[in-house]
Parts: sequence; C-alpha cells; structure tokens
Amino acid sequence: MCGIVGYVGDKKTTEVLLGGLKRLEYRGYDSAGVAIIGADGQLRSRKHAGKLQILIDDLEADPIPEGRTGIGHTRWATHGGPTDENAHPHLGDDGKLALIHNGIIENFQELKARLLTEHPETEFTSETDTEIAAHMVGYAFCETGDLTEALRQVVGRLHGAFTLLAIHSDQPGVVVGARRNSPLVIGLGEGENFLGSDVAAFVEHTRRALAIGQDQIVTITDHSVAVVDFEGNSVPTEEFEVTWDASAAEKGGWPSFMAKEITEQPEAVANTLMGRVVDGAVSLPELAGHEEMLRGIRRIVIIGCGTASYAGMIGKYAIERWARIPVEVDLSHEFRYREPVIDDSTLVVSISQSGETMDTLMAVKFAIAAGAKTLSICNTQGATIARESDAVIYTHAGPEVAVASTKALGAQVTAIYLLGLQLASLRGTLEPSEIAELLAELQAAPEKIRTVLEQHDEIRELAKWMSDTRSVLFLGRHVGYPVALEGALKLKELAYIHAEGFAAGELKHGPIALIEPGQPVFVVVPSPRSSDSMHPKVVSNIQEIRARGARVLAIAEGGDASVLPFADQVFAIPPASTFVEPLLAFIPLQLFAMELAAAKGLDVDQPRNLAKSVTVE
Ligand code: M6R
Repeated sequence: MCGIVGYVGDKKTTEVLLGGLKRLEYRGYDSAGVAIIGADGQLRSRKHAGKLQILIDDLEADPIPEGRTGIGHTRWATHGGPTDENAHPHLGDDGKLALIHNGIIENFQELKARLLTEHPETEFTSETDTEIAAHMVGYAFCETGDLTEALRQVVGRLHGAFTLLAIHSDQPGVVVGARRNSPLVIGLGEGENFLGSDVAAFVEHTRRALAIGQDQIVTITDHSVAVVDFEGNSVPTEEFEVTWDASAAEKGGWPSFMAKEITEQPEAVANTLMGRVVDGAVSLPELAGHEEMLRGIRRIVIIGCGTASYAGMIGKYAIERWARIPVEVDLSHEFRYREPVIDDSTLVVSISQSGETMDTLMAVKFAIAAGAKTLSICNTQGATIARESDAVIYTHAGPEVAVASTKALGAQVTAIYLLGLQLASLRGTLEPSEIAELLAELQAAPEKIRTVLEQHDEIRELAKWMSDTRSVLFLGRHVGYPVALEGALKLKELAYIHAEGFAAGELKHGPIALIEPGQPVFVVVPSPRSSDSMHPKVVSNIQEIRARGARVLAIAEGGDASVLPFADQVFAIPPASTFVEPLLAFIPLQLFAMELAAAKGLDVDQPRNLAKSVTVE
C-alpha cells in the first residue's frame, strides 16, 4: 500500500524523491517522509502526517541540504495511526541509517522483545512494525560495515511481506532494497539509478526498468545495479521498457485523475483489443505454447478483489456461454482460505490492475502450490502476479492513478472476453463466424462508450441534486448484476454513502423490504432485443419497486419504450449485444459516484482510508 522511491545520482535528490512520491501518492496518503545523505555526509530526514503536500511545503520553506542519495515514502497506515512519529523513514544506528517499508512485518513484537534483550539501550519512537527493521539493520551494519550484507542478514528473520529500502551515511551513494511479496522495480538512468514501488516513481526520468524477483536484494549506485537472493547469490534480472510516458500519468487539465480515466475508457478497450483481432479471430501470442493446456482444462476459477472481481463475474457468464467450461468466481482472500478443490485440470485466472494485490498474489501462489495452471489479467508490466503466473494477458489501459478503478475495469472485461473467445476457438464450441461477429461487436464498443460519456453533464446535475442522499440501491441481472455491484462499490468508496447492489431476481427474497417512498434505485436494464429474455424480467422488477415508491434511475437502451414511462430518469446506452452492455453501463455509474463525491466536496482521487494497491492482507 505504501509508495517507495530511492535515488542515487546528480539531480536534486529532494526533487526526484518528491516527484516520485507525487506519482506514488495513490498508493497511500496518510503521511510522507524523505531521508537524504547530504554533500556533507550527514543523513537528515523529514516526515509529516497528512498528505504529501504538507511535506512538500515544509521542505520548500526549510530545505534539507542536497546530496546524491535519498529515499522517500508515502504511507498507508497499518501499525500505528497516521502521526509524524509513525511516518517513515525510521532511523537506526544512532540516526546514521534510514529505512522505509511497504508491507507488514508480522513477527515484529517477537523481534522487538529479542532486540531489547540484546540491546536494552534501543529506543523506539513509533508504534510501527517497521522501526524494528531499522534498528536491526542498524546493528547489523555496525558489525558488517556493509549495507547490503546488513539488510541480507535481517530479511531472513522477518516474517510477512515487505519491501525495504535503506541508506546509511557511512556508505553514501548507495541505496539498498529488499523485497518479499511486495513490489519493487529498478529504474536505469545514465549516471543515476532509481528504485520504486512501481515505474511511476521514475518514469519522468527513464523508461528503462528492471524487474526483480521474490526474495531478492538490490544495491544501486549511480553507475551500477547488483541483485542477489537472500542467500547472497547473484541473480539475473530482466529489463523491460515502460510503454507509457510521464504525461500519461498526469492530470492533463482534468479536475481529477478519475475524471480523466473515466473518459479514457474507449482507448483502454481499443488498446486492449489492438493487434489481438486478426482476420476475425483472436490472436493472443502470449498464450502460444499453452494451447494444449487450454484445450485440456476442465474447470476455471477466476479470482480478484473489489472491482477486479466484478470483471471476473462478467467473465464467468461469457466463458461459460462461449467455451462451455464451468467457471467459478471467488474473492481472492476467500478462495485461498476455503480449501478449494483444485488440481492440474483447473485454470486459475487472476484479475488485477496493479498486479500487486496481496490477497490475489497469495491466492495465485496457493493455486500454483496446488498444481493448478495460472493465468493473470494484469495492467502493470512486470508486476508480481504476472511474473508468478504461467501466462499473462496484459490489459493496455495505461496507468490508472485514481484509487477508484474505472478504465482498468473496461480493459479487464475486454481481456477476459478475448480469453473466452480464444478458449471457444481452441475447444471448437463456437463457429469461427460467431467468434468474428462477437469480436466485431467488441471492436465497436469504444465508439459506443464515447456516446455514453456525452451524458456527463446530465449525470452531474443528478448527482448534485442527490448529494444529501443517504442510501442508494443498484439492481441488475446476468451481466448487469456485477454492473450493479460495481455501481454500489463506487458510490461507497467515493461518496461514503450506503449503497448495495443486488441481483434483481433476488429482490423478492428480502431486499425489497428496503424500498420505501423516495428510495433511489439504479436499474441496469438489458436490451429489449437481447435473446437472453431477461429484459421483461427486469421491467417487471422496475414495476415492483415503483409500486413501493422507489425513485427509478434506469440505465437502458435509448428509446426503450417499456422503461421510459416508468423511470424517473433514464441514462441511455446505445444498442449493444449482451456482453458489450456492461462496458457501456459502467460509465453512468462511475460518473454518478464521482460527481456525487465531488458535490459533497470529497477528494475523488484519494478517498478516505483507501489505497490504490492493497499490498497487505
Ligand atoms: O489492483 P487490483 O485490481 O488487484 O485491485 C483490486 C481492488 O483493490 C480494486 O479494484 C478496488 O476495489 C478499487 N478501489 C475499486 O474501485
């Protein structure tokens, strides 16, 4: 959850660190801090509770002397509240060492007790799990005189998940990092090098990056990068080029990243399809060599969290229909702990924008250990989940900065459709002409999404008008059901309003008791032309809630005469086939949640208590 950046080089270190932290702030925004080894060889640190801007303002008013080596951190609190004391960096070795951390050190209490026996003079100044690592590395440095070796001696004693970065004033010009189940990438510059939680930390300076594996330690100077495993053996690294530039992660005149990212959905879908539809067939070279496995699997389990899990639910409907394989969808954290029955005939498909969500990563590892095949759908190049899986289909949504996932969802749904059609092709469950038709419909989706985006002003007005609303319900059937769940999640996380999504058919089994006069209910209505015969059922559901006084806000095909007279407001989507509809129906719900949050004066990019990448369990 926290964002981490490290730098060695000739640029103004404070600027590089703060620039990196600005791009990583989506990962956590409770507090922030930096530590720099100045030209005079002194290590100085500054940290503050609250948003990064507080630290930036303080450093502008009272700068830290510049140097060539530094680390920076933006925090999402786990152990200890968001206070100045709990902010990172934490210091060791009498203030000569600074250390930052992303993750959780699960055995920190036990380590602390042992350290206090060995070194009763140790003073702890925070409630964090991190501070123990700072002291342990500090003592190890006193014995070894080498930061890499000191960190190596300590990491083997830590339980849990961590990325650690450390600097020491006796070894200026060196930043050392270690990772286990938490992200860390290296940025390669000319006469400078970088470390970051993700490439956003340094993409402004270089697009050359190195991915490092689990349980590895990296040491950077301005001219060298060395990676070893936790046993100290040298290990090879894998260089990749970042496919987007710094401007892709800028607001570019939009009021928020979320507003920008919602409107980027046509491109997210188009880019995810680009080069993957050839002569009316799916072309996924990344699955080359896996054809036998895909033909042979007997079952699919899709895992993900939050919005990614809703992409998975939509994928279930599509894959079962097209490829006739039983598909189960589970939340990653539930999957892992329920002793699922999986074996080598099971394909576990993980969906994750960040590719770093700890619950999903752990579930993937569990699946691998159980002998299942694994495939990830991921938006972040070189991310841990992608690297751990047997195969990966990257979504090409570009960097998603706002905490609320929007364009990544459209891209995830598109990618899982491609997988479903590829499976159908390999298993012969659809005719080539049917596949070509479905792909053509998908290729037409970006233009249709643009049409839906044109209703932004209308949705903003509704949101303003509803800004005092205390509860909103969402209904949908079939693929409209995950859309309803997503509408509710967006409203909860952004506007802090009670919201619930239901399968419309479930209404009469309990939730209808919630309907009272004036209760706003969004209803996702399938196309009247759909062959799935769900339309009349949803229309009946509208009648049932209207009869009890609900205020009906319908997302329906433009001109749907069976809905228009009965809805208080209709957000029109263009005619589309069943599986394209979710890509369109998400849009009004995302815009509504964002505008309602904005009308309440809330920060739509950084909602309270949340972080973009949930790298703790
Ligand atoms: O990076 P991931 O796709 O694995 O993230 C999964 C969820 O944490 C994420 O979708 C979350 O639910 C979003 N905040 C929803 O907008």
